[in-house]
Order: sequence, then structure tokens, then C-alpha cells
Amino acid sequence: MSSIIEDLITRKIFNNRGEETIEVDVVTQSGFGRVSAPAGKSRGKAEVVSYPKGGVDQALKKIDDLIAPEIVGLNSDFQEEIDSTLHEIDGTNDFKIIGGNTAFAISLANAEAAANSHGLLLFQFLGGNTATTLPYPLGNVISGGQHTRGKTPDIQEYLVLPYGAETFLEAATANAQIHKVLGEILRKKSSSFNGGKSDEGAWIANIGNLEALEVMCDACEEVANELSFECGFGIDLAASSLWREKEKKYVYTREGKKRDSGNQLEYLLDLIENYHLSYVEDPFHEEDFESFAELTEKTKNCLICGDDLFTTNNERLAHGIELNAGNSIIIKVNQIGTLTDALETIENANRNGFINIVSHRSGDTCSWHITHLSMAFRCPIIKTGVVEGARIAKINELIRIEHFLGNRATMADLTVF
Ligand code: PGA
Ligand code: ZN
Repeated sequence: MSSIIEDLITRKIFNNRGEETIEVDVVTQSGFGRVSAPAGKSRGKAEVVSYPKGGVDQALKKIDDLIAPEIVGLNSDFQEEIDSTLHEIDGTNDFKIIGGNTAFAISLANAEAAANSHGLLLFQFLGGNTATTLPYPLGNVISGGQHTRGKTPDIQEYLVLPYGAETFLEAATANAQIHKVLGEILRKKSSSFNGGKSDEGAWIANIGNLEALEVMCDACEEVANELSFECGFGIDLAASSLWREKEKKYVYTREGKKRDSGNQLEYLLDLIENYHLSYVEDPFHEEDFESFAELTEKTKNCLICGDDLFTTNNERLAHGIELNAGNSIIIKVNQIGTLTDALETIENANRNGFINIVSHRSGDTCSWHITHLSMAFRCPIIKTGVVEGARIAKINELIRIEHFLGNRATMADLTVF
């Protein structure tokens, strides 16, 4: 059995939006890994650059010309060496030469190839025998903001979190049922509702910010009663996209309101209390660590999560930890580039009591590798939608893992609720 890398095979494929993306196969003497990269639409400013100038075609060329000659012959078991080689070849701090998505695909495909060379599944290889805890699925069910156009909510995502479920399959069932019930409620509520869905498979409806929260309450309650366990819910404001730096205000176009930071804080405190929100992501713009800290201090039993705030970047997380800016972090490996970089951030979050939430992106493929990362690195929550092919590829992979583990499988501990 050998994990020595023999070849990097690359190609251009498409994501769920029909955009070009990169796919990499890492071939070792006795194994194989294949990963394609996702794409964000509401991207954080501190994210690494996705592709070099010239896009996917140029990235493929860089692999052939610059990367493959350095990587072929290395041992895929040594992930840190592979990842530091990628950094050395690139030579910048934001992967602008080779592209963060290029680094992402090679790094993760390498991890899978190493696992495969040892006859192990990725989560077993990275997490060991004790990686038997499944994450709760956090799923987007109503879309707004930058993920839609027209008269939709200003808030980007309305998400369900069935934290009372005892198994992953039960949790995934709850999310699918809530999505379905919401569709029925929206159909009855508005004659203009045509069943349209966003890239992430969440409903697109002509409703206001609060109206959407009302229907979330109704759907979650109905399904929770049916299934006899608690289903929480929350929102991702992606507030950087609402923030107007010149005016120093959050502009809610649909609602016809503008809020300064103080008003935004009050607004959020009201929403959390009135709707018993379990989860609030990016409630303030990506440089406002102080307001994140204030909101975190003033709330209980609610995850205050940084996505654009942290961009999976350990230095930004360290700053957030110092200020108590939030209590949870979105982990999108392609925001930072390599598995080693992401793991550094995940470990720092763990050491400091922040909850890690591994996440898909709105543009995504059927690569399911983030599910194995959530298992291997004991992340209690995975954010990966409810319906739509790229989401279902990940949900179903976790169902398979739970099935495979049998009675060794447990659900994550979400005692925060
Ligand atoms: P994305 O963002 O469109 O950049 O994937 C989704 C999110 O804000 O969580
Ligand atoms: Zn987000």
C-alpha cells in the first residue's frame, strides 16, 4: 500500500448555477481522491481569491505547469507538507497566483486519496476511530437578500435547526418536512407564489422579513408536533450586503427602513426574543466585531455566528475570541484555501468554546467532502441546505455514514439549547 502521489488529473466542470468550477483527481500508487470546488455569492472581503486571472482555464494551466511537478512524488499522508507546498508555489497571502479554489480542490482531494490509499473513509482517516458523532443539519428554507431578486425578504436566509432529533436521519427528515410544509403555507398565503427556489433550494416568496419569521414559526411548530421533538430556527442576515458604509446604516430595501448599528442591535434583540431564534449569522457587517460582542453578551441560548466576519481565517477568529464577538463560526474551507489552514481555525475555535459550523456555499457541486470534515473534526452543526442536488449529495452522505456506523453513531451535543 502506498500513498505516494503519482498524478494530478484536472478538469473544468460546472456547479449548480452552471458556472465553471475546478475538479481535481489526486492519484496515488494505491488510492484516489476527487474534489470539486464551490463558489460563494455573498463573499466576505477577507476571503482568499478564488481563481487566478483567466479563471478556471488558467487555474488548470497553473496545475500542469507549476503545481503538478512539485506535488507528484510527495506522500499524500503528509497533508501539511502538501498544503505548505501549495502556499510556497503561490507565494502570496491570498492565493491570488494559483487561486484559493485550486488549493482547496488539491488539498481535499489529497486528503481523500490518502484515506483511500489506507482503505479508509475520509472521516475515519482524518478523525480516527472515535469520530462517530454526527452533526445537526442547519438548512436554508426561505431565501432573500443577495440570493434572490425582486420583492423578497431583506434577510438572506431563514434556516431550520432540528436540535431535538435523536438521529441524523430524523433531523434530515424534519428539515425536509419543514421545507415542504413551508411550500404549502406560502402557496396558500400568496397568489403570486410560483414555487420558485434559490440556488440552495430554499423558497423564493414575495413576503416581508417578519412575515417570513411567522411562517417559519408555524411550519416548525407543525413538524415538531408531528415528530415529537424540538425544531429551532434562525437567520443569516449577511449584513455586509445590507450595510452602506457612507451612510453608516443597514438599508432594508423591502422593508423601507434604515438602521444604524444601535438600531440594528435593538432590532436583533427583539427578533431573537420574539421568535425564540436559535441561530443568527452575520448580524452586523464584516468589520463590526464590537457589535457582535455586544449582541453575544446580551443573548442566551442563541448561536451568534460569524461567516463574513471570520472568513475561516484564524487571525480574524483570534480577534473575535479576544472580544467575545460571537460564539460560533462558519467554516468554509475555500474561504481560506487549504485543509491545514481551516483545521488551524477549527482547533482554535474548539479551544475557545466557539461552535464550528462546516458549511456549503450557494454555488456548489455534488462533492460531499465537507460532511466528512464535520465528522472528523467533531463539528456539531453542518450548514448544507435541505433540498437541491448539491445539498442532497451531502445530506445523503451523512445518512450513509450514520447507517455505516450503526449503533456506534451518536448525535452531537448541542446543550446550548
Ligand atoms: P455564499 O454565502 O453565497 O457566499 O455561499 C452564503 C452565506 O452567506 O452563508
Ligand atoms: Zn452567511
